[in-house]
Amino acid sequence: MLNDIQKVYYSEEHLADIVNRLGKQISEDYKDKNLLLVSVLKGSVIFMADLMRAITVPCAIDFMCVSSYANKTESSGVVKIIKDLDINLEGYDVLIVEDILDSGKTLSYIRKLLLDRNPKSIKICTLLDKPERRAVDDIWADYSGAEVPDEFVVGYGLDYDEKYRNLPFIGVLKREIYEK
Ligand code: IMP
Ligand code: MG
Repeated sequence: MLNDIQKVYYSEEHLADIVNRLGKQISEDYKDKNLLLVSVLKGSVIFMADLMRAITVPCAIDFMCVSSYANKTESSGVVKIIKDLDINLEGYDVLIVEDILDSGKTLSYIRKLLLDRNPKSIKICTLLDKPERRAVDDIWADYSGAEVPDEFVVGYGLDYDEKYRNLPFIGVLKREIYEK
């Protein structure tokens, strides 16, 4: 598995610093609110597990699973709900927790869907942001861990073809893996 990685972008220690910084900021901003963290499966699962423990104010959690990929590295814009939320969003300040914001098509769809359910507010927290790749104008990260250039990254929950999610760091996948 390690042989498929071209270089490490964010080590475990670096990721822990990023998550702690986000947790502090969110705890401050949501101290008088009714926070609900919505994790978008499966990529955000590790980030979610670490982020919720870095948040020191009460929060509820829920999960949704969508599939949006026409192929293994590009978003199609067509989003299918595989698993919906269990919690009724009314009265909640929703914070969507994503692994990476790429074209933004997936989040644009999810955000509209959740807004229709009358939450008090909706914001977006993404671990990684690839701003160069944005293809929609209604999506931005209210909280962003780090920016990455236009390269395909894996690890810490992020996959290529369902592999590499269990790497504890974030690294760039060698091109030959996804171009073969
Ligand atoms: P978007 O709809 O193009 O913004 O796609 C967002 C989703 O694409 C993320 O939640 C990831 O699952 C996936 N994705 C985008 N870029 C990468 C990457 O570099 N590595 C792994 N998954 C990615
Ligand atoms: Mg994914």
